Amino acid sequence: MLLRAAAASASSLSFFNPNAEPPRSVIVRGKNASGLVVCAAKGSTNHRALTGVIFEPFEEVKKELDLVPSVPQASLARQKYVDESEAAVNEQINVEYNVSYVYHGMFAYFDRDNVALRGLAKFFKESSEEEREHAEKLMEYQNKRGGKVKLQSIVMPLSEFDHADKGDALYAMELALSLEKLTNEKLLNLHGVRQVATKNGDVQLADFVETEYLGEQVEAIKRISEYVAQLRRVGKGYGDFQVFCKVELNYGYE
Ligand SMILES: [Fe+2]
Ligand SMILES: [Fe+2]
Repeated sequence: MLLRAAAASASSLSFFNPNAEPPRSVIVRGKNASGLVVCAAKGSTNHRALTGVIFEPFEEVKKELDLVPSVPQASLARQKYVDESEAAVNEQINVEYNVSYVYHGMFAYFDRDNVALRGLAKFFKESSEEEREHAEKLMEYQNKRGGKVKLQSIVMPLSEFDHADKGDALYAMELALSLEKLTNEKLLNLHGVRQVATKNGDVQLADFVETEYLGEQVEAIKRISEYVAQLRRVGKGYGDFQVFCKVELNYGYE
């Protein structure tokens, strides 16, 4: 009752400005019958000032309740997650899987009995697993946001890595460096989509890309760049190469 009276009082003051509707924040002033000056701000601010209530959950939740999907195909959790973000996350899953597949091919090559560079085999096996984990983390994120994971085809990787001038170890490591840089480019594209997402109020995607991927990616580029530099320094000499694997990759030979 008090609320209705207050609202009526506020609206009755609008005749003091007959030519135009005052903006929501404008304070309307006038004298009442007893000669006292009264003020009323049009809009919710006034309502809050009058009632002392700043959050009315059962009123405000009504519009959210209307948005809860009823069809079973639709995600219940999805909120502020635009289609462009969903597609970009699926694309990045494919990038990570492709890189994982290439590294797995490198593991298989260096693990051969007539190649037998176990340190590099182990390094690329772990790298392959790490890239797959990156893909899986993106899948979990896609589901968390209410998107749908759509796996795409992956390309058949190389199975031979020998190179007449560079040798197989340097060639494979340079290839790995190029792949990491390419992955970084793709992540920056996702970062571009992130800006679109941020405009839609999706700061969660921004936080996810930055904290989980961008920092780690530049670390990987630095690490593999150092391996390339060291492999160039030791050349194709097998003895030096053993030392490189033991000291730098921390993988010994049995
Ligand atoms: Fe990755
Ligand atoms: Fe990586």
